[in-house]
Amino acid sequence: MVKPIKSVDEFLLIRESSNYADVSVGFVPTMGALHEGHLSLIRKSKEDNDITVVSIFVNPTQFNDKSDFENYPTNIDDDIAKLNEEKVDFLFLPNHEDIYIDNYNYTVSENDFSNELCGEYRKGHFDAVLTIVMKLLNIVKANVAYFGEKDFQQYLLIKGMAEAFFIDTEIVSVKTEREKDGLALSSRNIRLSGAEREKATIFPKLLSSNKSCSQIESELIENGFKVDYIKEFDGRRFGAVHVGSVRLIDNVKI
Ligand code: PAF
Repeated sequence: MVKPIKSVDEFLLIRESSNYADVSVGFVPTMGALHEGHLSLIRKSKEDNDITVVSIFVNPTQFNDKSDFENYPTNIDDDIAKLNEEKVDFLFLPNHEDIYIDNYNYTVSENDFSNELCGEYRKGHFDAVLTIVMKLLNIVKANVAYFGEKDFQQYLLIKGMAEAFFIDTEIVSVKTEREKDGLALSSRNIRLSGAEREKATIFPKLLSSNKSCSQIESELIENGFKVDYIKEFDGRRFGAVHVGSVRLIDNVKI
């Protein structure tokens, strides 16, 4: 059975025990509502390491849209059942006060790539992600931490932060898990209505086509999407669109 740890102090005690300190530790930070995408990170961590830690913390500071935070899916019982099936060793479930002892007065800030792509549309989002991930990495002190490629910009920024601050955890990306029709798995997908879910498949199809970014953008708009951006960067094509009230992001190698 996975062992839930609900406070930082408790986690620090576990970290000192020999069955934590003397083995290789893999870490998968999440915001819960676990799906196959998260499970693929967990499976990779279990393959590579002696023990695996998963954290669930819906980090309020990284939601720049209040209603997105309020509507973020949570189902802790379901998540724990999945973690037990995967035989995860530890679940870190910190509370807000424990994590934000500083009242979010101290932040990690990146001044370049965090303002591009999603950063242009979600002000402060990546600094909030970097801040929470820095806190979690410092608490968990894993050998390796795993992040999904669906959030490729997030992965690159976290990897850059780990290098910049000499953090002793290797940052590894794991390829995006997709539904049979190509839609990238995301906790937010369950908020799509039947018709929106059907329409959503147009997004990955166009993104991975050999059309130009502007052509893709026009076709998405014609199909009723609100488009934040379709842009190429460093050998990948990135996109963010809105379907009804749900914002979807994706990226593909080009
Ligand atoms: O990708 C996520 O689920 C979150 O951004 C993360 C990395 C757990 C930080 O809150």
